[in-house]
Amino acid sequence: MRGLLLTLSLFNPFTFLPLTAQVYLDESQPLEQRVEDALRRMTLDEKIAIIHAQSKFSAPGVKRLGIPDMWTDDGPHGVRPDVLWDEWEQAGQTNDSCVAFPALTCLAATWNPQMARIYGESLGEEALYRGKAMILGPGVNINRTPLNGRNFEYMGEDPWLASRMVVPYVQGLQSKGVAACVKHYALNNDEEYRHQVNVIVSDRALREIYLPAFEAAVKEGGAWAIMGAYNLYKNQHNCHNEILLNRILKQEWGFDGVVVSDWGGAHNTDEAVRNGLDLEFGTWTDGLTMGATNAYDNYYLALPYKKAIQEGRYTTKELDEKVRRVLRLHFRTTMNRQRPYGFLCSEAHYDAARKIAGEGIVLLKNEQHVLPIQQNAKVLVVGENAIKMMTVGGGSSSLKVQHEVLPLDGLQSAPNSQFTIDYARGYVGDTVQSYNGVTVGRSIAESRTPAELRAEAVEKAKQADVVIVFGGLNKSDFQDCEGHDRRQYELPYEQNELVEALAKVNKNIVFVNISGNAVAMPWIDKVPAVVQGWFLGSEAGNALADVLTGRVNPSGKLPFTWFRQLSDVGAHSLNTYPGTWREGHDVIDEEYKEDIFVGYRWADLSAKRKKEMLTAHRSPLTAYRSTPLFPFGYGLSYTTFDVTVNGHEGGADVSVTVTVKNTGKVAGAETVQLYVGPNKPDNSRPVKELKAFQKVWLEPGESKTITLTASRQSLSVWDEAAGQWTFIPGTYRAYIGTSSNTNSSFKLNLL
Ligand code: BGC
Repeated sequence: MRGLLLTLSLFNPFTFLPLTAQVYLDESQPLEQRVEDALRRMTLDEKIAIIHAQSKFSAPGVKRLGIPDMWTDDGPHGVRPDVLWDEWEQAGQTNDSCVAFPALTCLAATWNPQMARIYGESLGEEALYRGKAMILGPGVNINRTPLNGRNFEYMGEDPWLASRMVVPYVQGLQSKGVAACVKHYALNNDEEYRHQVNVIVSDRALREIYLPAFEAAVKEGGAWAIMGAYNLYKNQHNCHNEILLNRILKQEWGFDGVVVSDWGGAHNTDEAVRNGLDLEFGTWTDGLTMGATNAYDNYYLALPYKKAIQEGRYTTKELDEKVRRVLRLHFRTTMNRQRPYGFLCSEAHYDAARKIAGEGIVLLKNEQHVLPIQQNAKVLVVGENAIKMMTVGGGSSSLKVQHEVLPLDGLQSAPNSQFTIDYARGYVGDTVQSYNGVTVGRSIAESRTPAELRAEAVEKAKQADVVIVFGGLNKSDFQDCEGHDRRQYELPYEQNELVEALAKVNKNIVFVNISGNAVAMPWIDKVPAVVQGWFLGSEAGNALADVLTGRVNPSGKLPFTWFRQLSDVGAHSLNTYPGTWREGHDVIDEEYKEDIFVGYRWADLSAKRKKEMLTAHRSPLTAYRSTPLFPFGYGLSYTTFDVTVNGHEGGADVSVTVTVKNTGKVAGAETVQLYVGPNKPDNSRPVKELKAFQKVWLEPGESKTITLTASRQSLSVWDEAAGQWTFIPGTYRAYIGTSSNTNSSFKLNLL
């Protein structure tokens, strides 16, 4: 027997160590040895306990072993205020007011991975101060339809852009010893019916469009946690989905972290045991809804699982694997003694929030140099969004901030400004400003009718040199908010009528759209300037004022295609949204018929090909005409740039050398974008796809030469028959531009 033990211990050096040597507490020991040492000390009850929640946002540690509880919190734009132990209502702490960073669409619009790094680091410091080991974010679901109520939390429509931005966010956050929990894995591309949607998608679209940002977060970013999505894929909920979790995430990508269920996303003990869920949160069991004191014991991975093990239905193989992953998370976070200190609301965090916001704001239109605002101008500010807080609302990303600078206040206190400002409400949107007990102090109640408000704004506009309308959406239900999608592409609250009326009396209208999504702009030709202002967080007003006054030269670029109308969007023109209910109304099948042609990939398709697809899918639409209002990757500056391609190389990788020159009078930044596609587009691949980009800062007159490189791997396609990535050698076409709408292209031979 002794001989056998010795032999076995050669194979597994951890199992037979004397229990007295507390390897798991020794940070000089390799991570895996610490994990095994802790694991073998744990009882069945302790193992079961650490794989499910004990409160809304915490899971227990192992007190006996000195492993602390694991506290987590939303994410992704700031650290959510603490809620009560087992209720969603906020706990009413006085030390949990945070800095709100700009929503992730804005971060993506910076096209600057350094901003993502700073974002992650700053958020990590706030999380540390607040005692959170894991932040529920970032979100990288693809913007497939502008109706998705949660697009503002994500990084746009393009897998390459989202991948480049998510990696530094994850690394920055985790450099502080706080885990990123990347969400919502996967195919959670609309909110309406998010619990019932069964997504039907080709393997190719899954791999080429919907998974790359998750894959990058895991393989390059080294994410320590990932959150399963609510919806289903191949008829299985994604929180315990064999293909997505076991096969792709864990086996193929080698993910060694924790799969966390979205809150209430687990539905079944057997699937949760076998299909890769590691940590269960938020389940709405009967026990919970009845308010039972031991509600958490009813979780799928709690007593039902323990009982099944005791009855011999499972060995502890799966359990041990889950526990290992949770222990790893503890050693990386709660038990990491090297973690730095946390800071809440530090000056550096506000600076980061303002800088990211300033870099992400997109100047969409600026005729006759209406912007920046001229000194001495008489400025009229119009619109509810100039005075409404946007950090409260929108669902789980809602925050309690130490301060949020409103757009009107930001303009009024803009440094060195000599313009005068008047204000008119113009329209009423939603005057309720509270979420989970966080209530905004300043009332925006308004009793006048829409007609009266419009009339007042029009009268004042007649006297103004420039009219800046702050409109858009507002994170209320159906207006960019979790839980529902938008019901319409049009602006709500009679804003179109307002803009039309103002444009009749004043030529210098600037529309600042506050949203995480594109909206219809039927009046676009009557308005000389449009700014995409996102949901910008604590420094919103300052950042907007920076750009509107020219203190900051805008350099943001759209992370999605801005279609003119909903029927121009692939998913909608093919009539695939929101899907088809099955009998019994339990599941709604949503087939992604546009396949890999999402966003600009759809816009780029020839009219002929679109028509063929419309016919094949029996869409009620028959013709297809319009081009996007603003293309993906687009954004203007107060200066001008010249972009010249100096040379390029094919071979194994694509490499293009480009010189960018600032030909205007103020310093600014331009983002040069490299797209690659087949030399002769044949509809088997997108006409072109983003493969590299770089943001370049230039003083007036200055030039810089940069090289953009796309690797062979990034040019591969998913071969459905072989189930692997494959590179197809041949003649390609590379496009260089400052948006996806570019004609500068050249042929390349790739081996
Ligand atoms: C959301 C998640 C969030 C969780 C916890 C869920 O409803 O989908 O994104 O992290 O709640 O608040």
